[in-house]
Amino acid sequence: MNEKLAWKEIDLSALLHNLKIIKEKVGEKVEIIAVVKADAYGHGMEVISLFLQKLGNIKTFAVAQIEEAIVLRKIGVDKKILILSPQLKDAIPYFFEYNLIPVVSSFEFLEELGAYSNSKNKSIRVHISVDTGMGREGFLPSEIGKVLETMKKYPSLVLEGISSHLSCPENKKDPYNIFQKKLFEEVYKSLRNERVFFHFSNTGGIFNFPEFHYDAVRPGLSLYGYGDKKLKPVMGVKAKITLVKELPAGWGVGYGHTYMTDKITKIAVVPIGYADGYRRDLSNKGRVLLKGEYCKVLGRISMDQFTIDVTDKEVKIRDVVTIMGYDKDKVIDAQELAILSNTIPYEILTGFGSAKRLKNFYKFNGKILTDPISELNL
Ligand SMILES: Cc1ncc(COP(=O)(O)O)c(C=O)c1O
Repeated sequence: MNEKLAWKEIDLSALLHNLKIIKEKVGEKVEIIAVVKADAYGHGMEVISLFLQKLGNIKTFAVAQIEEAIVLRKIGVDKKILILSPQLKDAIPYFFEYNLIPVVSSFEFLEELGAYSNSKNKSIRVHISVDTGMGREGFLPSEIGKVLETMKKYPSLVLEGISSHLSCPENKKDPYNIFQKKLFEEVYKSLRNERVFFHFSNTGGIFNFPEFHYDAVRPGLSLYGYGDKKLKPVMGVKAKITLVKELPAGWGVGYGHTYMTDKITKIAVVPIGYADGYRRDLSNKGRVLLKGEYCKVLGRISMDQFTIDVTDKEVKIRDVVTIMGYDKDKVIDAQELAILSNTIPYEILTGFGSAKRLKNFYKFNGKILTDPISELNL
């Protein structure tokens, strides 16, 4: 079965463009740590990371969990890999085996890591996360002195970096950003002579606060096309129409009859549903693109399909519908879907990303690649 009903299109040229915009924004002295966790926000972690390693000259990657990093090592990512989120003690041997860098947030983990590294007589680079106001991972600023003392007990622990994470950087006016920067700056001033590497900003920090860039930045969302007007969405979602039919006036459409036809209405069935990341909140609110024109979603989104209004349109089975992405001069992006679904583009991208039925098709320089890793020699 080769013919797909619905699929994702991942535009690697757009990814490279976004990386260029981020590099221009931060300047050449600031390193880019490419955040590829959660399957590269749904874009396919393996291809995205190998592509960024080879064509984007990325020297450091970041994931959330150790399993993600092990996958990267196994497929040939040989650059630095940071594990951003706290991990459990069981993960410790794998940091050594796969040469991975923990971003440490607790004394328990630091002590366990130190004891393990001393017992094996193996050194490990460590980044320390500071909770400057995210209220999630990281040591409180008041604990940093004790962290440094603890590290002295374990000479095999090498302090390489200090990080923190912003809580509301999308909002330039939120004073909390300045508060967090002030706390980070205090840690920076006390340690900047120790040859440690400081990283603070994600996408919001990169684009809204140039003074927050320090030695490295950690873009996730912006790599994939969101967070600044100059960026281009990398992911598109398409499907082929599977059914076209006319409904009489006064006919209910879909579960719960949340839409009733007021005239003879031609509908088309689009084979993607909430199980594929097209959220139920888009019922009677979303729109798709068909031959460069918008068509409205009618009725509820089902698990596997939804219906659109194609009255007065020339439509046939197999016509391609753009659910997210460009069609001629029009676009539907993850930001639009997020606003209509009362969420954020992150959840839209990872929602499509988690859909097992949606295969990724990669494009580079306008060409569809059937096997990007071998075709681009990644
Ligand atoms: C610690 C950390 N740094 C960087 C990022 C990337 O953030 P963004 O996708 O907003 O660029 C994340 C994402 O959640 C994160 O948790």
